[in-house]
Parts: sequence; structure tokens; C-alpha cells
Amino acid sequence: MSNQRPLGEIITLPKILDPRGNLTFIESNNQIPFKIERTYWVYDVPGGEFRGGHAYFENEELIIALSGSFDVVLDNGFEKKTFQMNRSYFGLYVPKMIWRHLENFSSNSLCLVLASQIYNEKDYIRDYNEFLKLAKGIH
Ligand code: TYD
Repeated sequence: MSNQRPLGEIITLPKILDPRGNLTFIESNNQIPFKIERTYWVYDVPGGEFRGGHAYFENEELIIALSGSFDVVLDNGFEKKTFQMNRSYFGLYVPKMIWRHLENFSSNSLCLVLASQIYNEKDYIRDYNEFLKLAKGIH
């Protein structure tokens, strides 16, 4: 029996096309499946750097490439999937208990993250082997 969790999914956000410039928006609990408690962004990432090798016990996130491009690798302990983020109207929904890291940042890329919880270091799982045990239900 497998207790494999679903990996994340791409959510296509509303896009208001306009010759003056396009517009996209997100509302708490509307286009995305959680209430937004926090927003942060990652920028000025030097070429070749990785970010975010960890999982969360409870926090859920939506990751958006507001500018430029990068890859998000998601891992549920059984399988991994790479999402190439390069459009500001696509959000990658990352459920809780999914190991994730970000790589291949283009120069001047801007990674926006909406989170369901305020920052709490105790919610992080930073040890991959601990994550694997939890994800596979090994105690
Ligand atoms: P972290 O989530 O570990 O980033 P990454 O996984 O991409 O390396 O955060 C890096 C540091 O920033 C961490 O020591 C704590 C701090 N931080 C906050 O204070 N608040 C936040 O909302 C976030 C995301 C990080």
C-alpha cells in the first residue's frame, strides 16, 4: 500500500489582456486553495545557485516566476517532478510535506512565493532522510 502524496500542480491564474499591458491577480482562498498569511520573494540569485532544499510539515505555497525563469523540483518521497517556471500567470501549488528545491535561475529572475503560514522554523524539515522516513510512513 502506498501513501504517496500528490505532487504539486500548476494553477493558471486569471489574465486580463490589455494593449496597455497585461494584468494578473490572486485572491486569498479564491484562485488558490489556501489563505495567504505571508509573501516573500527570492531575487539576485547568482548563476548556478540552488534555493530551498526542504519541506514543510504544514505550510503550503504558491510559487510564481514573476520575471525570468527557474525550475522547481518537487519530491513526495516516491517520485520527483521538475516544473519549468517562466510565465507570470502560472503558479505552482506546493502542498505540505513535499520536498522542494529551486534551480536554474535566469539572470534577473524574480521568484514570488505566497505562503499559507507565517514564518516558523519549526515547520521546516531540512534533513532529506528525515523527510523520506516521514513521507514513506517509516517511524
Ligand atoms: P529559507 O526558507 O531557508 O530559504 P531557502 O530554503 O531558499 O534557502 O530562508 C532563508 C532564511 O531567511 C532563513 O534562515 C530564515 C529567513 N526567512 C525569514 O525570516 N522569513 C521568511 O518568510 C523566510 C521564507 C525566510
